[in-house]
Amino acid sequence: MEVDNEALLEMTWRSPSNIALVKYWGKHGRQLPSNPSISFTLSRAFTETTVLFTPRRDSATPIVKSFLFEGKTNQAFARRIETFLQQITDKLPFLQQLQLDISSVNSFPHSAGIASSASAMSALALCLVEGRQRLKGDSFDLEDTINEVSEFARLGSGSASRSVVAPIGIWGAHPDIPGSSDRYAISFPFELHSSFDNWKDSILLVSDEVKAVSSSAGHQLMKNHPFARTRFKQARANIRRITVAMQQGDIGAFGTIVEEEALTLHGLMMNSRPSFMLLLPETVRIIQSLRRWRRQADVPVYFTLDAGPNVHLLYPSTHADRVLQWMEKELPEYLQSDKIVRDEVGMGPVKV
Ligand code: DP6
Repeated sequence: MEVDNEALLEMTWRSPSNIALVKYWGKHGRQLPSNPSISFTLSRAFTETTVLFTPRRDSATPIVKSFLFEGKTNQAFARRIETFLQQITDKLPFLQQLQLDISSVNSFPHSAGIASSASAMSALALCLVEGRQRLKGDSFDLEDTINEVSEFARLGSGSASRSVVAPIGIWGAHPDIPGSSDRYAISFPFELHSSFDNWKDSILLVSDEVKAVSSSAGHQLMKNHPFARTRFKQARANIRRITVAMQQGDIGAFGTIVEEEALTLHGLMMNSRPSFMLLLPETVRIIQSLRRWRRQADVPVYFTLDAGPNVHLLYPSTHADRVLQWMEKELPEYLQSDKIVRDEVGMGPVKV
């Protein structure tokens, strides 16, 4: 390297969020999951991250030279990324010679309460692996490096491992899923029944308050949880059932598992020590209304939840008109653009 501070390389990746169908809740060791999980990779909720790599002469200075989130310096994010990068220098030693200017934007409002660590950490992992390849003078092919990218994303945030594969990601070793691993996510290795093509995820933004419990703190709650063993066993059984349902086109079985998983996640939070109750009365109102209408109208629309009060409505796009009619009648306030993210299952990250 001839000149100090000369930019070596710059790149941008766009990576989507994902919504878990069978939830990851509980981890051990170096970000290894206590049970396998499966998710739909989304499309419109994404993070776009640009990384500028320049030489670093002094190893005492931080790897993160600057971090801009939505155009503004963000020290809290910079510290989190710095910790993450320092932790992975054993696996990516090229980082020891570099400093990074990182800037990141989300397609969805930060205050929307949508988990952004999955899209953010997967976008960063893509930049890191492509950066390493290109700085070595090698070409970069996402298909060849996908397991490694997913592994780095996982080390940043567990659920991020699933965002790099599409349209369905499975993370965590399971005896019935060939190729599955605790280290990285793989895409659904079976033939997906056509009734699972083109699904929507309408995210109803019930609250934009900061979560009372971070995911990392939440996973710790499973360490001494009285139901931990039973839960991990249930998740493995649900992975088996849902992957069969998705091959056979059994939408009813799929929906039953998805809703059971959402409520189990919240049940586990409610009955852990300390206890957390993240459902709001409004969350319950939406769920009750959905279940009532579904019984009458016989439309395959199911809810799921993250570790927060927002409701994800999952349904085949062929039923979008019916879902809209129900929302117009029962939930008209969510048709305003700041109360809903109209997402759908997508095809994974793209290089910008
Ligand atoms: C409820 O991946 O955000 O969304 O690994 O600590 O970063 P860390 O946690 P995170 O946990 C996600 C939990 C969940 C369920 C899921 O996405 O599977």
